Amino acid sequence: MLLNGKRGIIFGALDEKSIAWKIAERAYQEGATFTLSNAPVALRMGSIQRLADQCQTSVIAADATDTNDLKTVFEQSIEQLGGKIDFVLHAIGMSPNVRKNREYTNLNYAFYAQTIDISAMSFHKILQTAWQLDALNDGASVIALSYIAAQRSFPGYNDMADAKAALESIARSFGYHYGVRRKVRINTISQSPTVTTAGTGIKGFGDFFDYANKMSPLGNASAEACADYCIALFSDLTRMVTMQNLFHDGGFSNMGMSPNLLA
Ligand SMILES: NC(=O)c1ccc[n+]([C@@H]2O[C@H](COP(=O)([O-])OP(=O)(O)OC[C@H]3O[C@@H](n4cnc5c(N)ncnc54)[C@H](O)[C@@H]3O)[C@@H](O)[C@H]2O)c1
Repeated sequence: MLLNGKRGIIFGALDEKSIAWKIAERAYQEGATFTLSNAPVALRMGSIQRLADQCQTSVIAADATDTNDLKTVFEQSIEQLGGKIDFVLHAIGMSPNVRKNREYTNLNYAFYAQTIDISAMSFHKILQTAWQLDALNDGASVIALSYIAAQRSFPGYNDMADAKAALESIARSFGYHYGVRRKVRINTISQSPTVTTAGTGIKGFGDFFDYANKMSPLGNASAEACADYCIALFSDLTRMVTMQNLFHDGGFSNMGMSPNLLA
């Protein structure tokens, strides 16, 4: 088993459609032990406790924008799992502007700040909290989930595009420091459109999902396939991969035109 003996923290499983949910199930199958974390409101609304029972673990409530909450997550995880952490998944995203149908040309700036804080700065906060507590083992692997709107314009993605650009930059910037200090790997995975609560909140998601599916020679990558990729990146088989944005999109990112779409 690829993750035998490894201890992790998985942020962002809400319900069984969540990408983080599939990753937790795969990590469990591969012999990892881990804690789950999500925002207090998600603990009330979602079904994360069911996942915790299935993976024989517990849920630690934390607003990922609150560094005190994050400190608690790391401290309790180390205590419960019996040692420092080998892998962390950041699968957190939310835009109040998207939720309230504010166009990119008419953003509410308080919402915009929240989008950046929740969807990007939280990644820095997780890493800085781990750094200050010295909570990660040598060679640990940290992944955040991103989207190609960080590089190219996808108008419906709104201010989440700016958040994803910052998220990917944080992986590179922190990847340097943590690499030098502890050989920790930090990467982002740029995932295909996926049917989840966050994904389907994006305007025109259904049409866009079909478009991406036709454009990609392998079709859209599923959440289950994303989980497989994450397991490879958490494992020791990829210990020299860091500071990368890794496209997991069935080939979409390198396509220009597909006859599939002209038919
Ligand atoms: N679904 C897609 O099409 C797609 C594509 C590429 C990347 N992603 C990214 O994958 C990640 C996971 O999203 P998903 O699609 O599985 O949807 P999801 O809705 O299941 O997960 C989003 C999670 O973010 C959590 N969250 C929101 N605010 C939070 C806060 N303040 N503190 C802690 N957690 C908070 C939610 O509770 C939820 O669990 C996100 O970063 C998303 O942008 C999704």
